Amino acid sequence: MTLDEKIGQMTQVAHDALRSPADIATYHVGALLSGGGGGPNGAGGTASQWADMYDRYQSYAMRARLRIPLLYGVDAVHGNGDVYGAVVFPQNIGMGATRDPALVTREEEVTRDEVLGTGVPWTFAPCVCVPRDKRWGRTYEGFGEDTALVQSMTAAAVRGFQGPALGRSSVMATAKHFVADGGTTYGTGDRGYRIDEGDARITEAELDGVHLAPFQTAVAAGVGAVMVSYSSWNGLKDHADPYLITAVLKGRLGFGGLVVSDWGGIDQISPNYDTRVRTAIEAGIDMVMLSGDYRRFIGTVRREVTAGKIPESRINDAVTRILNAKFALGLFAHPYADRAYTAQVGSAAHRAVARQAVRESLVLLKNQGVLPLSRTAHYRIVVGGRSADNLGYQMGGWSITWQGGSGRTTAGTTIWQGLRAAAGPSVQMQDIGTDLSRPFTGDVGIAVVGETPYAEGSGDTATMALAPGDAAVVKAICSHTKQCVVILVSGRPLIVGRQLAESSAFVAAWLPGSEGEGVADVLFGEHPFTGRLPVSWPAAVGQEPLDSGDGQTPLFPFGYGISPY
Ligand code: BGC
Ligand code: BGC
Repeated sequence: MTLDEKIGQMTQVAHDALRSPADIATYHVGALLSGGGGGPNGAGGTASQWADMYDRYQSYAMRARLRIPLLYGVDAVHGNGDVYGAVVFPQNIGMGATRDPALVTREEEVTRDEVLGTGVPWTFAPCVCVPRDKRWGRTYEGFGEDTALVQSMTAAAVRGFQGPALGRSSVMATAKHFVADGGTTYGTGDRGYRIDEGDARITEAELDGVHLAPFQTAVAAGVGAVMVSYSSWNGLKDHADPYLITAVLKGRLGFGGLVVSDWGGIDQISPNYDTRVRTAIEAGIDMVMLSGDYRRFIGTVRREVTAGKIPESRINDAVTRILNAKFALGLFAHPYADRAYTAQVGSAAHRAVARQAVRESLVLLKNQGVLPLSRTAHYRIVVGGRSADNLGYQMGGWSITWQGGSGRTTAGTTIWQGLRAAAGPSVQMQDIGTDLSRPFTGDVGIAVVGETPYAEGSGDTATMALAPGDAAVVKAICSHTKQCVVILVSGRPLIVGRQLAESSAFVAAWLPGSEGEGVADVLFGEHPFTGRLPVSWPAAVGQEPLDSGDGQTPLFPFGYGISPY
């Protein structure tokens, strides 16, 4: 391979940043990605539209001298959530609540097939982060605050995506974000965030014991890729840290797969472009994920290598790791989408797995005799709250768009639709939404409230507060009904002491995804509550960071959950 061909392999371009698809061959581009919301024509797009896009890009790669197939990556972090009609699973925090690694494996097998249905062989998942401070906007991307829990789910997820070994029917998994993205100190966030992309001010013993251990698990499970974290460790950006990437990950942990930088991550290393490119590659990054100017990146690497500043041996190591992944995935023999998978995207069988995941993820925090609800009694149930009938809200971020959305952004069933369908004909059901102006009464009230979708640092919060409108809905519903149930739809615990006192039952539903019927399955007693808190639940925001074993007294401890009824 020529130097240019090698450098191209190390270059990952957001597909919608390509100035022309012909640049794939001209610049020997090795990889593309869809960032959050990066569908074939903007956000969304069906699986077959994605597969057409994928095949088209591959056909450009086949015009280059060596015909090296592209590696294409997506954020299939809770199902293949950017694809219209794909099944959207609970976010990882809910999967952590299930305490069911076998179910996580099933989830990722389904997701694998729904990713392969778009042609794509690589996901930027699982996030093996250990969120210690739940003010962090990425708390929901983690399986929980406990390293052992994260480890068990990590191994399960990698197995689901990849199978026993990388092959033609695998989707290559990525353990992210390396390392201690969930261990940053509040107030140190970068790019204007409070805690996201911040500095993990922790000892090496804590780094190893809490945050590195899941990567060790991922490596042992054969994970194909590791993504570097935007965050720093004691003041040094992980993207610039040869000790962490080369000595620890590739050396001590023996990771033989490819290390990819995060989106624009190298840009945070230094104001000087040449320095950041050189520093990142020397630190051990094999593939650089670029949001913008790939021509500049390629030209810079070439100059740095030619000037002897980046050793060619480092380039050869990077390219070897990338090509090994492409061979292992069978891309040389089969560069194009296997359409047999495409028709399965969003299938009833896949939705059933997600519905089971919803059921198992629910954590019952309080129940004064109201649950389970009867499907056959003659009574009246009033449902309300802005999260009751909002598919976008119940999916959260990384769903069709990066930040997530509101309403029917894809196919699925809302919590309200699930409840209404499950109730028998003798049950009068009413959804009042958020309209508290008209009088209403009911035997049972169900207030479904929670967070508005967000992703990454824009989800950082100083207060963990329930929105004032949500508090008003809970109060109104609970005071106009004989008994009321609060269902909290959120990516993390919120400060809900008052709502717990006002309600007769309280359910943490996390961000359940597209299969809202799973909530009704449990509320109506078809299935028991079995979920357990994957995080400690604070009584006040001032307790954060709050973690099991730190000597503080949470409102509900890690592992709490009333079960069975
Ligand atoms: C996120 C990663 C993600 C990447 C590509 C970044 O902003 O931190 O988790 O994989 O974007 O969308
Ligand atoms: C992309 C995300 C990416 C983010 C990074 C967004 O425009 O859609 O995938 O994570 O930028 O800041």
